[in-house]
Amino acid sequence: MNISVGSDHGGLELKRLIAGYLREQGHEVRDAGCHSGESVDYPDFADTVCELVRNGSCERGILVCGTGIGMSIAANRHRDIRAALCHESYTARMSREHNDANVLCLGGRVVGPEIALDIVRVWVATEFAGGRHQRRLAKLS
Ligand code: RB5
Repeated sequence: MNISVGSDHGGLELKRLIAGYLREQGHEVRDAGCHSGESVDYPDFADTVCELVRNGSCERGILVCGTGIGMSIAANRHRDIRAALCHESYTARMSREHNDANVLCLGGRVVGPEIALDIVRVWVATEFAGGRHQRRLAKLS
C-alpha cells in the first residue's frame, strides 16, 4: 500500500519508527516531513499528507504530533478526509471497519512504541465493512 506519513517535532520520533515498520512490511512510504526536531506547525504537515490522500497519490495517511489532537483537527478540515485519533487497536480497527478512516492520527507523547505499532498494524490491515456504514458516510459529504 502507498502510505504518506507526516509529523511535527512532537511526533517525529514515532513517525520515523512507523515509517521504518511500514517499509519493513513492504509498503511504499512517502514522508511529508518534518525531518528535524526543530519546532514546526502541525497544520502544514497535515495539509501535505491530506492532499496526497485526496489526490490519490497515496491510499492512506498517518499523522503524528505530540497528542495527535492538532493533527486530527487539521486533517478533518479537509473534504473527503476521515481522520481517526487512536490510542489503542480496538478503535483503530473500528475506524476502518465502520468509518473507512483514510488518515490515522497518533500522539507521539501519548502512546508508547509497541502500542503505536500495534495500532498501525491493525489499522493498515483492516478493510471497510461497507453496507450500512457506507450510507452513513454518504451523509458526511
Ligand atoms: C507541539 O508542542 C504540540 O502542541 C503538538 O505536537 C500537538 O500536540 C498539538 O496538538
